[in-house]
Amino acid sequence: MSQNHLETPEDLLRFKLRVAMTMEEDSLAALGELAEAAQTADIKKLFRHHADETREQIENLKKVFQLLEVPESSAPSPATKGISKHAESLIQRSAPELRDQITLSAALGNEHYEMAAYEGLILPVTAMGATDALKLLQDNCDQEIHTSEELSTRLRELLGV
Ligand SMILES: [Fe+2]
Repeated sequence: MSQNHLETPEDLLRFKLRVAMTMEEDSLAALGELAEAAQTADIKKLFRHHADETREQIENLKKVFQLLEVPESSAPSPATKGISKHAESLIQRSAPELRDQITLSAALGNEHYEMAAYEGLILPVTAMGATDALKLLQDNCDQEIHTSEELSTRLRELLGV
């Protein structure tokens, strides 16, 4: 059966896990680009710190593949590609003074997508009772939530609201 033909909830979970792997790889690449494009040192640092966490998240996902006995692979993640493309386009057409705002907003968009993606994995894994895999997914999701809060706080500071 084609890997892309999904018939059961288990097929769907396996596919979403493969998409999550691409999502994290895209995030890692995007965070590097955002760190380059940002103008302010502490914002660059925020992106680099989350890039380090993202490397750990990729390792966690690899363990989830093992725990759920799914062969490790990736599947297309058009949403994260789109978020990056949008950011790239805004960066290219903007004055340097706007780039902290653009990069923080782009990273925030990515984090919110990741939070939703993890929730879409956490709920079926909870239903399966796969507690070890669940903990790793929850750890990743908690990092995304924490990062989104940091990004939002910094964006508010930048805009004075
Ligand atoms: Fe992530």
